[in-house]
Amino acid sequence: MTRITVTVDGVAYEEEVEPRLLLVHFLRDRLGKVGTPVGCDTSNCGACTVLLDGRSAKSCAVLAVQADGSDVLTIEGLADGDAWHPMQRAFHEEHGLQCGYCTPGMIMAALDLLKDDPDPSEEAIRSGLEGNLCRCTGYTNIVRSVRRGARDMSGREVTP
Ligand code: FES
Ligand code: FES
Repeated sequence: MTRITVTVDGVAYEEEVEPRLLLVHFLRDRLGKVGTPVGCDTSNCGACTVLLDGRSAKSCAVLAVQADGSDVLTIEGLADGDAWHPMQRAFHEEHGLQCGYCTPGMIMAALDLLKDDPDPSEEAIRSGLEGNLCRCTGYTNIVRSVRRGARDMSGREVTP
């Protein structure tokens, strides 16, 4: 067992973990952060995406011990109390989900994308989210949601 210290959604944890434990299982099984789903477990689908030290990471492709000393943000840390994050609200208002399984990863990946490109085109969104798969194939509304989220986060008008 290895002792790690990690901050998740603003709360510091110090835990003993097996060196082979994946970050996604640490988040879900140890911390109860079940808002981060496991889709493929093979780093293909992006459902498990979180922000690791501010950047997008597939948490099934990261060992918990690799997150030692890091700051992790999951979908569960986005809302401010009862107030959704603008990107969460945008997915709701633009119907950017069907079954919802991919949604946490889509939202976290979108937030990473906006760090480099705060006003992404449809093409840039499709390219930026290509590591996140939606089995329901609701990509049109997902792209629209990200554009609206970007607009709401910046106060800009969305361009057609
Ligand atoms: S569960 Fe991590 S990429 Fe699919
Ligand atoms: S909404 Fe069902 S997998 Fe994307």
